[in-house]
Amino acid sequence: MSYTPGEVFINEEQIKDAVNKIAVEINNKYKNEEVLLVGILKGSFVFMADLIRKLTCPVKIDFMGAKSYGDGTISCGRVNVTKECDMPIRNQHVLIVEDIVDSGCTTSFLKKYFEDKGAKSVRLCALLSKPSRRKVDVNIDFLGFNIPDEFMVGYGLDYAENFRNFNQMHILNP
Ligand code: IMP
Ligand code: MG
Repeated sequence: MSYTPGEVFINEEQIKDAVNKIAVEINNKYKNEEVLLVGILKGSFVFMADLIRKLTCPVKIDFMGAKSYGDGTISCGRVNVTKECDMPIRNQHVLIVEDIVDSGCTTSFLKKYFEDKGAKSVRLCALLSKPSRRKVDVNIDFLGFNIPDEFMVGYGLDYAENFRNFNQMHILNP
């Protein structure tokens, strides 16, 4: 079975508006305090690139790799760190930047990961969230869109590493 990108679900202008709205919220929250944005690879890289250029608070960035292996039940499976964050975390405000929160397993693991490393604060920013898919409750401090249980591609999000280059987000069709 081959999959193709179907209808545009969120267009370029809607994404731009959401990025601007999130940036205003982040600027208001941190003001003159420095924040370390940690993008979760690979899906967040396009969102991250657009977002940081709208920020006026002092910003540093890093990227981290993490993969969750859900076990199909209520509980979360294992989360593997595939690339560590290289920047110092202790006493740093950390803002995790995700493309999409699905089960919530990856981001709830990462929040604890940064708390354990002594971050001054740990917050979560996500462009998309699928609340109906949640296995673990995770608070999203800065959110673009709540979406239904559909598989999304484009604007950094992939299906089997394809379609990350699209300017807008599409629902994947079988
Ligand atoms: P979870 O919240 O731990 O289940 O994992 C979230 C991760 O799953 C995201 O960072 C994406 O890499 C991936 N993911 C979940 N839903 C989608 C989707 O609709 N399109 C593309 N990737 C997705
Ligand atoms: Mg991801």
